[in-house]
Amino acid sequence: MEQRYDFIVVGSGIAGLSFALKVAHAGHSVCILTKKDRAESNTNYAQGGIAAVTSKGDDIERHVSDTMRAGDGLCDEEVVRAIVSAAPERVEELVQLGVDFTRLEDGRRSLGKEGGHTKRRVLHVKDVTGKAIEEALLDGIAKQGVTVLEHFFVIDLITSSKLRRRGLDVPGKEDRLLGLYALNVKSGEVETFRSQALVLATGGVGRVYQYTTNPSIATGDGVAMAYRAGVPVMNMEFVQFHPTTLYTKTDERFLITEAVRGEGAVLRDESGNTFMGRYHEQADLAPRDVVARAIDQEMKRSGAPHVWLDASPVGAEHFPERFPNVHQTCLRHGIDPRSDFIPVVPAAHYLGGGVQTNIDSSTSLRGLYACGEVACTGLHGANRLASNSLLEAIVMADKGVGAALDYLKESQEDETELPEWAEGDLSDSDERVVLSHNLDELKRALWDYVGIVRTTKRLERAQARIHNLAREINEYYWDAKVDVSLLELRNLVQVADLIVDCALQRKESRGLHYTLDFPERLDVPENVMATPLTFPEK
Ligand code: FAD
Ligand code: SIN
Repeated sequence: MEQRYDFIVVGSGIAGLSFALKVAHAGHSVCILTKKDRAESNTNYAQGGIAAVTSKGDDIERHVSDTMRAGDGLCDEEVVRAIVSAAPERVEELVQLGVDFTRLEDGRRSLGKEGGHTKRRVLHVKDVTGKAIEEALLDGIAKQGVTVLEHFFVIDLITSSKLRRRGLDVPGKEDRLLGLYALNVKSGEVETFRSQALVLATGGVGRVYQYTTNPSIATGDGVAMAYRAGVPVMNMEFVQFHPTTLYTKTDERFLITEAVRGEGAVLRDESGNTFMGRYHEQADLAPRDVVARAIDQEMKRSGAPHVWLDASPVGAEHFPERFPNVHQTCLRHGIDPRSDFIPVVPAAHYLGGGVQTNIDSSTSLRGLYACGEVACTGLHGANRLASNSLLEAIVMADKGVGAALDYLKESQEDETELPEWAEGDLSDSDERVVLSHNLDELKRALWDYVGIVRTTKRLERAQARIHNLAREINEYYWDAKVDVSLLELRNLVQVADLIVDCALQRKESRGLHYTLDFPERLDVPENVMATPLTFPEK
């Protein structure tokens, strides 16, 4: 039995929840499908805050130019201006929903500073901004009575052209979205959902790297399924590495927010000397790509496994009050940030590219919208300005609502029969073990060969491994009974392929893509469209 809604939203981070809240408010039936518990998302872990012009000494044009400078010549200026201009209003909506941004003693909002910003403009709730936003949005969703189906893993989109390719009779000629297949993780059954409009809000891809700030949900599912549905994906080479995550001997990487440097903390090399002044005029508050590259270079030069973050300038009293989450986490690792240097290393953090979208969040596929980290709007260019991501997500969700409501009005209810999922029955446990080894191999290959500094040879080496893995997975996937680990591995391999494909196409160094083979920037900046393998589908 298929389920039917006016709107389906895939993902329950800031983008998906904001979209769902508004279409529900407009009186439509909406269902959020999310692959784990509803709060589990990148959003929930955001620390630094949300960038918006809210103080008298700041202005929109300054936020625009900071964004464009960080984006290293590749931002779409019209998009930047549209998103940045909408920021104050969207932030005010969050306040109305109950997000209690931190205030100074005199009652004004506390504004954080982060890399690349020439003004204090980052609204925050101490260092747990994302959690506060997630909770407020989930409260709003609950009050509005929106259906949220947790532990539903969306596998693939159903489109008219896919059905036609299978020989089914679908009215019309154009390609449009019809619905999706989702694995009900608890029952193990794949269920069919129908809706005319669907929003991908599935977040990022950090888990394709061995070291990342991202939680386990960040496996690039939305990018992979959009690509499989024939929707253009772009600029995937721009993976942002956050300069400062807590170094430990495990693979886990806890973020030490850039706002710590905004309050005065400085980076030091293994001998205790500051070094960022040698790399950029904004020193420790240079754009993130510059800082991550500088740390990488310092680590390579010294052979040390990390550099140090000296947070003493923040002040022993101020630090625990301003950064309680970072403070407690460091203490749990035996480091007191008030008196000890914090060992830090870069880790994969944010996807700058993604599903190509227009300024109303629509994609090339009728009925499909994408917003948040999964989407590529042109805001970030070659490198995202800190704290512009939560901002982009709420603004683009709002713009998407307008466009999707119009689409619903003008389009006809579609009664095309949606075929049931073709379930395989193969559940070979030996093969599963091999697949999990494959996942480790993939993450290591991406970390080693597709990291902060690249070369064509290393990228080609990564590509050869990815293609081997893709072949193995495809052979197995066809007959397999699907589960979350298989589906995620398949998506991760696809995303890895997209990243490497775009990286190989970019014959220059710009923003987050730095290659020793093409160290200069080209005169005319261009976006890169992904063109790698397509994976067969059931
Ligand atoms: P997410 O919040 O990641 O939500 C994605 C949702 O999709 C999740 O609910 C997930 O379960 C679901 N999902 C994914 N795949 C599927 C599937 N196949 N089926 C069903 N559901 C699926 N940005 C800032 O602007 N400021 C900050 O201070 C900041 N700090 C950060 C700190 C950390 C540690 C991290 C990791 C990121 C930070 N970022 C920050 C980036 C920012 O948090 C994210 O870009 C943003 O939250 C993305 O929101 P989203 O709604 O697009 O996706
Ligand atoms: C941070 O707090 O340093 C992360 C901010 C961001 O990713 O925008």
